[in-house]
Amino acid sequence: MSLNGFLCLSDFDKAARRKLPHAVYEYVCGGTEDGLSVSGNRACFDRLGFRPRGLTGVAGRSQSVWLWGNEYASPIGIAPMGVTAICRRHCDMTLAIAARSRGLPYVLSGASNVALEDIQAGAGGAWYQGYFPGDLDRLERIVQRLLEADVNVLVVTSDTPVAANRENNQRNGFTIPFRPSLRLLLDGVRHPDWLFNVFFKTLINEGVPRFLNLYEEHGPRITEEPAHGFRGGRELLTWEHMSWLRQRWPGKLVIKGILHPADAQIAVERGMDGIIVSNHGGRQLDGAMAPLDALPAIKRAVPDAYPVMIDGGFRRGTDVLKAIALGARMVFIGRPVLYGASVAGVEGAGKVLDILSQEIDRNLALLGCTHLSDLDADYLDPATLRTLTDADT
Ligand SMILES: Cc1cc2nc3c(=O)[nH]c(=O)nc-3n(C[C@H](O)[C@H](O)[C@H](O)COP(=O)(O)O)c2cc1C
Repeated sequence: MSLNGFLCLSDFDKAARRKLPHAVYEYVCGGTEDGLSVSGNRACFDRLGFRPRGLTGVAGRSQSVWLWGNEYASPIGIAPMGVTAICRRHCDMTLAIAARSRGLPYVLSGASNVALEDIQAGAGGAWYQGYFPGDLDRLERIVQRLLEADVNVLVVTSDTPVAANRENNQRNGFTIPFRPSLRLLLDGVRHPDWLFNVFFKTLINEGVPRFLNLYEEHGPRITEEPAHGFRGGRELLTWEHMSWLRQRWPGKLVIKGILHPADAQIAVERGMDGIIVSNHGGRQLDGAMAPLDALPAIKRAVPDAYPVMIDGGFRRGTDVLKAIALGARMVFIGRPVLYGASVAGVEGAGKVLDILSQEIDRNLALLGCTHLSDLDADYLDPATLRTLTDADT
């Protein structure tokens, strides 16, 4: 399929909306309750303006970034997303290959459907995101599996102690465990490309997708409730578990879901290697502040060079540059790459990443910078900077 007409990330959103069954598209795009955090994540970018410099000579630009001794081609990566098998067959692998081919990090979700060992073999170097239980024996066994699979970066999600209230999914009859119904079947029939290439091909070749990476064993089918429940013991998880993990995990350890500067400080004190400022793309606590709004206070709470990453609502190169100007090292992208993969596999997800990095390059020049390291809050319009919730607290 030709992707020439896809000029910006929202073009992939529109195409995925047409291609995927309504319930599947809504699973991806949706938030929780009144969708306040989903819309808030976007609104903060619109509020913040730039203050560019001119006549600086911007030839020879580079947008590469260094993180823990590794150089990445761009300051963007793919955020962890679970249950992607309903969007495209082998979707986790598709995303991993797209990121790998562009020299960017990919975070494999704990709720993913391709075995992490296969991802490591097919598109090595994925980071792993854990939805961890509070049970230390179980945790020990998961860590063992990750070590055996040569995972180097472990991301622990901190904002999902219980299941969020996803009313949109309930209204669409979409649940996990997945329960087939006449309504979902009709939804599928109205999207024949998806029905044939995703639903039937997956069923025939792999059977019902499984949660292959939640715990130490290959987990249950997405239609089954596991013995411990999907979130078994997650409400028991505390910073004590993170300190315990720090003792056992020799690789990089990152906490995803930080919004409060005090939590950022604790992450530093407990020896975490980095944090991802995130409200889970507005999919957990509705009304949780936008990550971009939280960034200034978090940056002030941690040492200058400490890796602070961010995700939530990034749809333009200019969005990424705003976060970099506020001190973020790396920006993760969720829904748009999943739309890209749904529409056109590796090519589609790759094109999403390419569009973003082209926008970053062009707008870096328009700001009057050659390197991302040139960029700081001085390049932001002071009047609009003050509108960030935490900019001057
Ligand atoms: C379909 C979907 C599934 C997700 N699954 C996970 C997950 O398994 N683990 C996790 O930590 N975050 C998960 N997230 C949240 C993302 O990692 C990320 O925080 C968020 O999507 C970023 O916002 P954006 O989609 O606006 O770019 C999921 C998001 C989506 C859209």
